[in-house]
Amino acid sequence: MDIKSFNPPVRTLMGPGPSDVHPRVLAAMSRPIIGHLDPAFIGMMDEMKLLLQYAFQTQNALTIPVSAPGSAGMETCFVNLVEPGDKVIVCQNGVFGGRMKENVERSGGQAVMVEDAWGTAVDPQKVEDTLKAHPDAKVVAFVQAETSTGVQSDVKTLVGIAQRHGCLTIVDAVTSVGGSPLRVDEWGVDAVYSGTQKCLSCTPGLSPVSFSERAVQRIKARSHKVQSWFLDLNLVMSYWGGDGKRAYHHTAPINALYGLHEALVMLAEEGLENAWERHKRNHLALRAGLEAMGLRFLVEEPHRLPQLNAVQMPEGVDESAVRQRLLTHFNLEIGAGLGGLAGKIWRIGLMGHASNAKNVLYCITALESVLTELKAPIEAGVAAGAAAKALAGQA
Ligand SMILES: Cc1ncc(COP(=O)(O)O)c(C=O)c1O
Repeated sequence: MDIKSFNPPVRTLMGPGPSDVHPRVLAAMSRPIIGHLDPAFIGMMDEMKLLLQYAFQTQNALTIPVSAPGSAGMETCFVNLVEPGDKVIVCQNGVFGGRMKENVERSGGQAVMVEDAWGTAVDPQKVEDTLKAHPDAKVVAFVQAETSTGVQSDVKTLVGIAQRHGCLTIVDAVTSVGGSPLRVDEWGVDAVYSGTQKCLSCTPGLSPVSFSERAVQRIKARSHKVQSWFLDLNLVMSYWGGDGKRAYHHTAPINALYGLHEALVMLAEEGLENAWERHKRNHLALRAGLEAMGLRFLVEEPHRLPQLNAVQMPEGVDESAVRQRLLTHFNLEIGAGLGGLAGKIWRIGLMGHASNAKNVLYCITALESVLTELKAPIEAGVAAGAAAKALAGQA
């Protein structure tokens, strides 16, 4: 066999994730492996909990990284909090709300859907009306940052409504943690999951989750066994020291956890609010450049995610040709639209380590070059200046 070591090209990742990983995180992952019950590793796990509590802004004791990607964090929330026959209000305004519905149904629950158009936020009034019509609902689930459309929904308001109707909440924060405000305790979120490959500047494959005391009580009082052995929090908790002891559950992804630890140390060094501010600043600069070119956003201003920019295609342009050229000529990855938005938008990520001034200017100039080459109807020669002005705070 003539297969050699794999050496990937060096790209700039400005799609919907994974995003660029900081060299410090990659260096941490290459440190020597130790046993996953080694006292040194257990010390690192204890620190990890504190760092995750900071990232989520919570004191929840059950705050851990699930040893699998964001989808497993999603599944952890549903399989533990939904029992057969439970009614769950699921808000859908993009791809990931649809996956929540699947999770409810596969957990034996009944999903009652609250639908909003892709590109708009979850409508709190519809959630209120649906809860009034279904007073037996037990859980409300929604996505804070819809990566498929670049929309953010109002967690505080939606959780407040769910609480007034006696429901627990499950919040998808895969794309929000580290990139835009999320205050789990202050807003009263019961179960939340995230991913490491977006605004945390880490590699994919881990899913930080956090559960309130109310949620933990609901899990402990279940009348049916959680149908997933691997994701059963009653078992996972005993590995993460929930009862003060450590018992083998599965072999932790040791070096991946070193990486997440380093990424979270970096987030704490920067300061969470500074990180949120940085994502916003770079989004505004990207916006200034794109709008100067004549491009338009899909999402209305108050609901735009700073870390995921959904940009409408100019008339008559082959969208995949643009992405292809960006990749081959500029080593720059941006994302395509999904579902009904395929071929209509690009998704430009400014997530984590990739949310920086250099990437804003690089993306603007590369995109302008490709669009000019493809004779797209854009205003050429002004975008980089507009972005630079915004970065200098003069927009
Ligand atoms: C909002 C949202 N939820 C869930 C997921 C699933 O995460 P993963 O791909 O890490 O399994 C993603 C991934 O892009 C996401 O953007």
